[in-house]
Amino acid sequence: MTELILRDALRPEDRSHLERILRASGAFREEEVSVGLELADETLNPRPDTDYLWVLADRGGDLLGFACYGLVPMTEGTFDLYWIAVVPEARGSNVATRLDEAVTEAVRKRGGRWVLAETSSTEPYAAARRFYAKRGYCLVERIPDFYRDGDDRVTFGKRV
Ligand SMILES: CC(C)(COP(=O)(O)OP(=O)(O)OC[C@H]1O[C@@H](n2cnc3c(N)ncnc32)[C@H](O)[C@@H]1OP(=O)(O)O)[C@@H](O)C(=O)NCCC(=O)NCCS
Repeated sequence: MTELILRDALRPEDRSHLERILRASGAFREEEVSVGLELADETLNPRPDTDYLWVLADRGGDLLGFACYGLVPMTEGTFDLYWIAVVPEARGSNVATRLDEAVTEAVRKRGGRWVLAETSSTEPYAAARRFYAKRGYCLVERIPDFYRDGDDRVTFGKRV
C-alpha cells in the first residue's frame, strides 16, 4: 500500500479533497464547510496577514485527512486547532493521531505553549471529544448554549 505522507504545503489541487473530507465528516453544516474552504482559499491566495497552517495526510495524492491551525492573535504561543478531520473510511487507523502529533510538534518548534480545540457538545461531535480526551487534551472551558440553545461550546486544551 502507498505510504501515508504528512505535508504542510497546501496545493491548489487539495481544495477538492478538503471539500470532500469536510462534506463526508458528518459533523459539519454547510456554513462550516464554506468556512473551511475559505481558509483554504485564503491560504492559496494569501493576504499579507494570512497565517493559516496545515497538515495534510496524503496517500498517493489522495487526502485522507487534514488539520488546520494557527496562532491566536494577541497571544504569545497560543494556537487554535481550527479543524481536524479524517475521511470516514480511514478513521480508527491513527490518521488523526498523526495529524495531531504533527501539529503539536510544529507548535512546539514555533515556541507555542497551548493548543486549543473548540468543539460542540452535540452528538455529531462525540467522536471529536473522545479523540481529544485520548490525545491528552483537557476540558478547559464550557459555555452553555453558545452555538444555540442546547449546544454548548467546549474547549479542549493541551499544554505543549
Ligand atoms: C475526530 C476524528 C478526527 C478522529 O479521527 P481518527 O483518525 O479516527 O482518530 P484516530 O484513529 O487517530 O484515533 C485516536 C484515538 O481516539 C479514539 N477515537 C477516535 N474516534 C473515536 C470514536 N468515534 N469513538 C471512540 N474513540 C475514538 C481511537 O480509539 C484512538 O484511541 P487509541 O489510541 O486508544 O486507539 C474523526 O472522527 C473525524 O474526522 N470526525 C469528524 C470531524 C470532527 O468532528 N472534527 C473535530 C472538530 S474540528
